[in-house]
Amino acid sequence: MSVVRVLPLGLDLEVADGQPVMQAAHEAGYVWPTECEMSAECGLCVSIVREGVENCGPMPDEEQETLQRTMGMVDPSRRLACRLTVTGPVTLTKRGVRPEGEE
Ligand code: FES
Repeated sequence: MSVVRVLPLGLDLEVADGQPVMQAAHEAGYVWPTECEMSAECGLCVSIVREGVENCGPMPDEEQETLQRTMGMVDPSRRLACRLTVTGPVTLTKRGVRPEGEE
């Protein structure tokens, strides 16, 4: 279990080993921007890793392909939350993350 701090909301999210950050957010009752529902296709879940890039899991091929297609680059500090796993503390920025039921 690791803690991922999500800015600007200031959410501290507990993420199990091997669990994508976005899935942990859903289970904790938070909405994360998406159009593909965690299929690694839309690119809308992309998040900026501010601290702890060394604690981020390897980038699967499908994540690299989507980042290349949607952002035109692959960079360790830009990750799809629907594929990002962590092994230690990470701080990232993702606008639009909010509690379910809030606009
Ligand atoms: S939720 Fe669509 S790419 Fe991650």
